[in-house]
Amino acid sequence: MTTDQTARLEWRDGAIPISTRFDDPYFSLENGLEETRHTFLGGNELPTRFAPGFHIAELGFGTGLNALASLLAWRASGTTGPLRFTSFEAFPMAACDMDQALAAFPEAHAIAAPMIAAWGSLDKTPGTRVMELPDLILTVVIGDAQQTLPAWEQQADAWYLDGFSPAKNPELWNPELMAAVGTHTRSGGSCATYTAAGHVRRSLQAAGFDVQRVPGFGRKRHMTVGVRTATTDTGTPDTSPNDTGTDSTSDTAKTGSDTGPSATNRTPQP
Ligand SMILES: C[S@@+](CC[C@H](N)C(=O)[O-])C[C@H]1O[C@@H](n2cnc3c(N)ncnc32)[C@H](O)[C@@H]1O
Repeated sequence: MTTDQTARLEWRDGAIPISTRFDDPYFSLENGLEETRHTFLGGNELPTRFAPGFHIAELGFGTGLNALASLLAWRASGTTGPLRFTSFEAFPMAACDMDQALAAFPEAHAIAAPMIAAWGSLDKTPGTRVMELPDLILTVVIGDAQQTLPAWEQQADAWYLDGFSPAKNPELWNPELMAAVGTHTRSGGSCATYTAAGHVRRSLQAAGFDVQRVPGFGRKRHMTVGVRTATTDTGTPDTSPNDTGTDSTSDTAKTGSDTGPSATNRTPQP
């Protein structure tokens, strides 16, 4: 990993941030918020499972859209106390870029100001940063998740696995990191991701999750959800009939179609 930790971006239509480091967009312009709700909230059965003290963890903080979507749902649910949200991020965005990116989603942007203000004063060097808002305890662990997650001393109730596409950001999907996600998930906790990649599903199963492939968002045929039932790594291979190990959707982007020409990258939908 390079020592330059700053997110390098270019903008498509002035609105969609594209990582030049990973050659992948952070989200789709037209439906990024709904996509988050379907994939990460719905995939973890949220807000139904919300309870006081609930803790969401995430790989890849990016623009903070997933955190804000979760806070919107938390507020609407009326759950007492703050939502705990911990995200692992190696290449933090500048606050002004985050603000510009979130402007595409008025509902999320409307509640983003305190987070963006806190983010602007955040020290971006590796380490743990905590931003306390009235109903959100937001922790961002700056650094490569391959090192920072194994060292984390907490467990989450739900995980959002939101790296760039596995083809372009393989280090955020490797079996060792998925195993660390498993050990940092409470028994009965869950995970969700937009990808249906067979190797990700197998790694999550080996990490103790009961894994299912379920309908994805929009044009995306499948995504992956899991519930952590095991307490140890069984290493059991995924032998489900649907898993050939060569899933044609294996590296599809969260914003791409499973069937269309954009299936191999995160190119936003037109
Ligand atoms: C698709 S974006 C996440 C979008 C984000 N969840 C949001 O709501 O905007 C993927 C993120 O993973 C981060 N990332 C990539 N490799 C990483 C690594 N090894 N450790 C931690 N974060 C990483 C990228 O910097 C990027 O912010």
